[in-house]
Amino acid sequence: MNVFKEFFELPAEDKVSVYSNNLKRPCRLYTSSSNYDHENVHLWRDNLRHPCHPLEDCIKIWPQKPTRYREIVATYSIEAKKLGLRILELLSEGLGLGSGFFGDKLSESSLLSVNHYPPCPDPSLTLGVSRHCDPNLLTILHQGDEYGLQGFKDGEWIGVEPLHNAFVVNIGHQLQIISNNKLKSAEHRAVTNSRVARTTAAFFINPSDDCVIEPDKSLIDTNESPAYRPFQFKEFLLNYSSLMGNPEKCLEPFELHA
Ligand code: OGA
Ligand code: NI
Repeated sequence: MNVFKEFFELPAEDKVSVYSNNLKRPCRLYTSSSNYDHENVHLWRDNLRHPCHPLEDCIKIWPQKPTRYREIVATYSIEAKKLGLRILELLSEGLGLGSGFFGDKLSESSLLSVNHYPPCPDPSLTLGVSRHCDPNLLTILHQGDEYGLQGFKDGEWIGVEPLHNAFVVNIGHQLQIISNNKLKSAEHRAVTNSRVARTTAAFFINPSDDCVIEPDKSLIDTNESPAYRPFQFKEFLLNYSSLMGNPEKCLEPFELHA
């Protein structure tokens, strides 16, 4: 967390080489969302994101400053992936899918998304991150020690208080689809505060781009039909970014109606 905070505290001239609004740049720093020019309200955040797999290749495009960034984040990404795979093993056991179900292509890829929310003069006017479910399989979120995360449950927003050195684990859209709605992706958002900056690090475990996602046959009960059609993960991502993660709309193109 310190090295992430140090990154955002660097003078602008040290960050400018990473700053980009080009979605095709795999490692980039940007402000608000990927749709800055067309959004109605800007979000009160900067975001640094980059892939973490395959590590030997992508580490070369990560920030060079702070000087210890690459070494520390490489170690972190390896451990976060291990933790995620262990949780996926337990989920797979719980679903009765047997060992190794989420290994391989379904969890091959990973992405680190680091949010920095500076103190906001009037938190009632905007958000840190607007409501969404994560598009991936599973998220390992380190939210630091400042409050800001909220989850939507039974029609209201509920604060997720930070626990020191604990992770928030979020089920992503792909787990919901594969489990034919037995697991639900968690809708969440981040609010800002006027007091202190808040830095959070979301480690996204993703299927590989060409991985075919569909409800697993063994999870479709005899009185049920598949709720989603098969698709490639990259197709989902393309649609998700064009809809800005709108939780009502982003599953629609993949839904089947019995
Ligand atoms: C995210 C996210 C919440 C937070 O990055 O997907 O939901 O508290 N972040 O920063
Ligand atoms: Ni999220």
